[in-house]
Amino acid sequence: MPEINHDLEQLKAHLERQRELKNPGVLKIKRYPAKALAEIRQDLGDCQRCPLHTTRNKLVFGAGDPDADLMFVGEAPGGDEDLQGIPFVGRAGQLLTKIIAAIGKTRDQVYIANILKCRPPGNRNPESGEIAVCSPFLDRQIEAIQPKVICALGTFAAQTMLKTKTPIGKLRGRAHPYNDFSVLVPTFHPAYLLRSPGKKRETWEDMQMIMKLLEQ
Ligand code: URA
Ligand code: URA
Repeated sequence: MPEINHDLEQLKAHLERQRELKNPGVLKIKRYPAKALAEIRQDLGDCQRCPLHTTRNKLVFGAGDPDADLMFVGEAPGGDEDLQGIPFVGRAGQLLTKIIAAIGKTRDQVYIANILKCRPPGNRNPESGEIAVCSPFLDRQIEAIQPKVICALGTFAAQTMLKTKTPIGKLRGRAHPYNDFSVLVPTFHPAYLLRSPGKKRETWEDMQMIMKLLEQ
């Protein structure tokens, strides 16, 4: 019985959201993003939906403000993230933290997640089967947070989220429509910036665009 109630609540919330989206402001919908994120985390549980669970140490769910207006999405946890269970804490992560500071924010004021929640062995690229079972959880996180801007970090996240094979150099530099409440701004991956520091200028341009979008 409680489960049926839960489903009805979800359905009601969904229908109300549809009404609100068709006619913004018509309903004063109260959202509970922290609660929604906790439910998504609980649904993931001790996830064994793909083979990555056999090699991971910790699942990396995501971190930050459930009510953030800006969300960063990377590819997948690396070695440091896999050990700590926190996204972007290694060398690339430290650069991301600086990039976030450069736009006047802290990591606690944004939300950071990845396409995959578990580390691919040796940091190989995610496989399509892994993305298929894992990305619905990212979709639900985005739905819960409803950020104004999603910044996709690097080729992999940008191409996956925009369902395209266009290179990152062509995707970045503009905001792409993403869903009813978010636009997506692709930029270079901080790990790439460590190898190609000359690209930091373009990343800074992308961050300035993000700040303008957040002001609107
Ligand atoms: N690279 C990513 O794409 N995500 C992380 O969490 C860390 C490194
Ligand atoms: N290659 C990547 O994987 N990411 C970038 O951001 C740029 C090149």
